[in-house]
Amino acid sequence: MENLNVPQHVAIILDGNGRWAKKKHLPRNVGHAQGSKTVEKIIEDANDMGIKYLTVYAFSTENWKRPQDEVNALMKLLRDYLKICIKRANKNNMKVRVIGDISGLSEDLQQKILELEEASKNNTGINFTIALNYGSRDEMVRAMKAMTDDIEARNLKKEDITEDTFKNYLDTKELPDPDLLIRTSGEERLSNFMLWQLAYTEFYFTDVLWPDFNKKELKKAIEYYNGRDRRFGGI
Ligand code: IPE
Ligand code: IPE
Ligand code: MG
Repeated sequence: MENLNVPQHVAIILDGNGRWAKKKHLPRNVGHAQGSKTVEKIIEDANDMGIKYLTVYAFSTENWKRPQDEVNALMKLLRDYLKICIKRANKNNMKVRVIGDISGLSEDLQQKILELEEASKNNTGINFTIALNYGSRDEMVRAMKAMTDDIEARNLKKEDITEDTFKNYLDTKELPDPDLLIRTSGEERLSNFMLWQLAYTEFYFTDVLWPDFNKKELKKAIEYYNGRDRRFGGI
């Protein structure tokens, strides 16, 4: 890692839990459980590598379409994860945030999320963000509504709206834009993830299924990132 330029913000679309389980003739939920363990490990690896912001897409606004059994299993995993996360966050000095419409989650999950954010808000280590009930279009519509409320309340003037104003209404207002986006499992699409924020992000796709993703794979993604020439519209 010595000579590598480490991206400040890495975002990951973790995908392939179901296919990982299927390959092993196991129920999909076993894949999700394994995927959740991979998330825990990758936070530590990212921290070791000097990554300051790590964001993972864990549940989309479209994932409610899945069979009720699977949605329930995912919510249970999330509940368990949030519990251990509070302890981990303080042990590892990690600041945790959740983006997405948490009002769509059950009351107890909302409560746990607020507790976790509150308990870790003064931590100064890695910024770990989980996208839950997150959809980029939904995020932009919510931002637009909040902005309109401020205009109606005369706290904001239409002529003062800039890209930065809009950014400040998004769930990600406290985060820099991702430098590197990783998607596992061979799919090469955004599936409604961070459409605004990824405008100049480098994309890395790998066939590795999320439960098999590890530090070595993360390092490969960063090596790929180091080979890119980021021009941001310049020459
Ligand atoms: C990613 O794995 C986890 C979530 C979207 C919740 P998938 O569940 O999408 O796994 P595949 O794509 O079916 O293999
Ligand atoms: C994207 O994965 C959403 C998350 C990783 C949470 P999906 O597996 O839901 O995406 P599609 O349906 O293949 O586009
Ligand atoms: Mg998938």
